[in-house]
Amino acid sequence: MEMLLRVLSFLALNMLLHVHAQTGFISIDCGVDEDYIDNTTKLFYSSDANFIDSGENKNIPYDFTSTIYEKQLTNVRSFPKGVKNCYTLPADQGKDNKYLIRAVFMCGNVQEYNNQLPEFKLYLGVEEWDSVTFNSSYNIVRREIIYVPKTDEIYVCLVNTDSGTPFISALELRPIDDSIYNKTQSGSLVLFNRYNFGSETSETVRYGDDVLDRIWGPYSWSSGESIKAPYSSSGLSENQFKLPAKVMETAVKPVNGTSLDFYLDGIDSSQEFYVYLHVAEIETLVQGQIREFTVSVNKKAISSAIQPRYMIADTYFTQSSLSGSELNFSLSQTNQSTLPPIMNALEIYMIKEFVQLSTEQRNVDAMKKIKSVYQMTKSSWQGDPCLPRNYSWDGLICSDNGYNAPSITSLNLSSSNLAGKIDKSFSNLTSLQYLDLSYNSLNGEVPEFLSEMSSLKTLNLSGNKLTGSVPSALLAKSNDGTLSLSLDGNPDLCKTNSCNTKTKKKNSVVVPVVASIASVVVLLGAIFAVYWRFIGGGRRGKPAGVKPNDRDNVSQLEFQKPDVPNEEENWDSELEEIQKEVIETNGKLEARKQRLSYSEVKRITNNFGEVIGKGGSGLVYNGRLSNGIKVAVKKLSPSLNLAFEQFQNEARYCDEGSNMLLIYEYMANGNLKEHISGKNGSVLSWEQRVQIAIEAAQALEYLHDGCNPSIIHRDVKAANILLNEKMQAKVADFGWSRSMPSESQSHVSATFVVGTSGYLDPEYNKTGKLTKESDVYSFGIVLLELISGRSAKIEDNLSILDWFYPVFESGKLEDIVDPRLQGIFSTNSAWRAVETANSCIPLRSIERQTMSYVVNELKECLKLLEMSSPSNTGVTITRPIGTETGPQAR
Ligand SMILES: *[C@@H]1O[C@H](CO)[C@@H](O)[C@H](O)[C@H]1NC(C)=O
Ligand SMILES: *[C@@H]1O[C@H](CO)[C@@H](O)[C@H](O)[C@H]1NC(C)=O
Ligand SMILES: *[C@@H]1O[C@H](CO)[C@@H](O)[C@H](O)[C@H]1NC(C)=O
Ligand SMILES: *[C@@H]1O[C@H](CO)[C@@H](O)[C@H](O)[C@H]1NC(C)=O
Ligand SMILES: *[C@@H]1O[C@H](CO)[C@@H](O)[C@H](O)[C@H]1NC(C)=O
Ligand SMILES: *[C@@H]1O[C@H](CO)[C@@H](O)[C@H](O)[C@H]1NC(C)=O
Ligand SMILES: *[C@@H]1O[C@H](CO)[C@@H](O)[C@H](O)[C@H]1NC(C)=O
Ligand SMILES: *[C@@H]1O[C@H](CO)[C@@H](O)[C@H](O)[C@H]1NC(C)=O
Ligand SMILES: *[C@@H]1O[C@H](CO)[C@@H](O)[C@H](O)[C@H]1NC(C)=O
Repeated sequence: MEMLLRVLSFLALNMLLHVHAQTGFISIDCGVDEDYIDNTTKLFYSSDANFIDSGENKNIPYDFTSTIYEKQLTNVRSFPKGVKNCYTLPADQGKDNKYLIRAVFMCGNVQEYNNQLPEFKLYLGVEEWDSVTFNSSYNIVRREIIYVPKTDEIYVCLVNTDSGTPFISALELRPIDDSIYNKTQSGSLVLFNRYNFGSETSETVRYGDDVLDRIWGPYSWSSGESIKAPYSSSGLSENQFKLPAKVMETAVKPVNGTSLDFYLDGIDSSQEFYVYLHVAEIETLVQGQIREFTVSVNKKAISSAIQPRYMIADTYFTQSSLSGSELNFSLSQTNQSTLPPIMNALEIYMIKEFVQLSTEQRNVDAMKKIKSVYQMTKSSWQGDPCLPRNYSWDGLICSDNGYNAPSITSLNLSSSNLAGKIDKSFSNLTSLQYLDLSYNSLNGEVPEFLSEMSSLKTLNLSGNKLTGSVPSALLAKSNDGTLSLSLDGNPDLCKTNSCNTKTKKKNSVVVPVVASIASVVVLLGAIFAVYWRFIGGGRRGKPAGVKPNDRDNVSQLEFQKPDVPNEEENWDSELEEIQKEVIETNGKLEARKQRLSYSEVKRITNNFGEVIGKGGSGLVYNGRLSNGIKVAVKKLSPSLNLAFEQFQNEARYCDEGSNMLLIYEYMANGNLKEHISGKNGSVLSWEQRVQIAIEAAQALEYLHDGCNPSIIHRDVKAANILLNEKMQAKVADFGWSRSMPSESQSHVSATFVVGTSGYLDPEYNKTGKLTKESDVYSFGIVLLELISGRSAKIEDNLSILDWFYPVFESGKLEDIVDPRLQGIFSTNSAWRAVETANSCIPLRSIERQTMSYVVNELKECLKLLEMSSPSNTGVTITRPIGTETGPQAR
């Protein structure tokens, strides 16, 4: 009898294990001792023994769980020790596939946590996923993400932030079909909320009903009326999104009125949202009845007309992300519709970018091997060895330049109770420069492979029980100074070549002992010093619109960012900007010399995954560095022979075979021309104008005087001065630039004159002789534009100078300075600026000032501004008496 029962239960377990294997689900009840089958979901839950090797199991007292029907919440694994504790989940479907990962937390007994609700961080892979906070001890917190791992093992780590002991109740992984919940690049979707509308019960729908085990909470709509399908139908699940029929057979419609409105407010406007709307007609329509509606966000339509199909589920989702501090959604009945809109279910996700590369795989494998061979019990040795940066494994230093996968450069296992031989796996730490294995109980011979580790500069093996002889190659490296080797305190080790040569002759080999790691520090320092900043400009464009197809099961709505005007023209000018190369104003020459390999750029752009623009000379791709900086990468068509050769040392570029790439910083504030024209609605303050002028002038000064040979820009204009998010100016577009062949030559002769009408140096135009002063002239025009708010060409045949000279001679500053400033500027500063501009624009180039003079004068303008009191903002402006700053007759 007992035997029979055993066999039966064995069969039952096997059957379920089979189901478990088939679906690829991993369900872990953290802190439980034995595996079991969950009563409600019928899913197999395993204990966490095979997924983590730290922490303590804790039961939550019955008092706290008596009302809770989820068994997973009745115990937790808590982590009083160690800063970072990681679960390792196998990605059974392999990396680069999509998984839903859910972590569940309920703390229950607060006494365990010193009567304070704990707070801690959750990391996924090597980056922060979310923080975990509670509002009460019964608060069940779920964190859910749709994630595409880049490694075959997924780390879910809890990080202690000194606000209580981290713990976890359950961890679940569900494979998701690649065709749904699509997002670009490295983006993952963090669940914001998932709603089941019209449900008549308070029941939560999940596995069993939902094959993907999404959790659908009921939502009751105060101004909505719940409706239910007359019967249940499998048609409601026959959608790529595999929606549960139980969720789709109920819906909400307005009680009265023609729209369903909901809004997200108090949201972080930098957060990007994706919305999935699931609809099916579940009322029986009679002849003449039509249900049709459109979706809008902040009053802007983001869909064409939607007609739900009878008992068939259709999913509509945003094609691009939505953001804003408030998102007001409205489903509104169209004119021809006789029925109000309905909504069956809704999912809202937030984009989370995971861009940091994990530690180089061979290093990871080697460290795991070392951990297991020497049975290391260091609590920090969990998850990725190098990352997150602050939580790397004890004793490691890793290289991290922001775009390569980190690798280990220094390993200190001194006094770590290592016993046995020096394992071969150390040889796979190919970037290792410093290895300290001193004061352990290592025995056996000093292995040959240590001499083949080409990066190794310091090797400390002292204080062990090594025997035999030292490989001669290792001694040779030590002798010629390429390796600092320390072998002291290994009584049975022969430390000289004599044992190798088997001669008795005493050899006076001195083994240098270097205990300092100064060289490593210096080296790492150097790596960080070239940690690069980007130069260049570009903008992220709007994605190509995808026409909604409301007859498809899955339709893509062209959801646009609410506040971006939908102008093709706008996009074109943005594209133009992307094509421009930018030089930094404050001369970070070191940074400029950084070169990237093609594969590094490939990684930054996620294999050129997202095209954000197309220009005459190539496609522009979206990219992102591990430090989060957005960049645009332009891949130049190989056929184009642009004038970039001149700038090989200045421009950050990557050139591999026929692939030429330019990387640009994301210039959030567009170009100066837009700001002068007031096109974007804001008026630059006087101080901002002076600041921009200084930065642009410095860039030109650098080109003229800081570069050897010096460089003439040839196309200085407001549209070529780009502004980043801090309104810092960068000079762009070197497409036409020329370098001066030699210092002795004062000009270069151009075969044809280039430049932009309105800014073009008249002398150069006439003679074709290009000098630095041509740039000075153009800059003078830009300065006038900045001062006056007028553009270089006032009308077709009227330049800014035709306007400027008469008003300048009249000496009325208030007529010169941009009226939009409403008199709010310093008179002295403005006069100085006008004078400076005037000194740039004489017809004869020889009479013009140099860029360094201009820079100095503009700096004076800024000083004058700082000196002027706030009250000096009167509207009556006259030329200051007794100064030389008045106009001079021409
Ligand atoms: C689940 O099963 C256990 C024993 O198998 C039983 O004691 C418990 O009451 C069940 N819980 C529910 C909610 O059915
Ligand atoms: C705590 O948060 C949950 C959602 O996580 C919410 O449903 C509940 O009302 C909150 N309780 C309190 C006391 O704020
Ligand atoms: C999602 O992406 C996959 C793979 O890139 C593609 O095959 C599929 O058509 C996409 N699905 C949707 C709905 O865009
Ligand atoms: C619906 O609207 C009509 C007319 O506006 C009004 O008379 C009626 O009271 C409303 N019904 C409800 C339930 O709000
Ligand atoms: C969204 O709706 C709220 C309340 O209805 C309103 O106060 C707010 O101005 C709206 N916001 C936008 C951006 O339309
Ligand atoms: C719908 O009706 C409104 C107001 O009656 C009108 O302004 C709008 O043009 C109509 N739209 C269509 C598509 O007929
Ligand atoms: C890492 O450590 C530094 C210095 O201790 C600290 O300023 C920084 O905020 C930490 N970063 C994270 C992500 O915790
Ligand atoms: C290496 O580790 C040992 C023991 O933890 C420590 O005493 C020593 O200072 C470390 N060496 C360096 C260079 O950090
Ligand atoms: C070193 O790495 C290679 C490639 O990953 C692997 O095949 C080899 O087994 C590793 N060697 C050791 C000793 O672990």
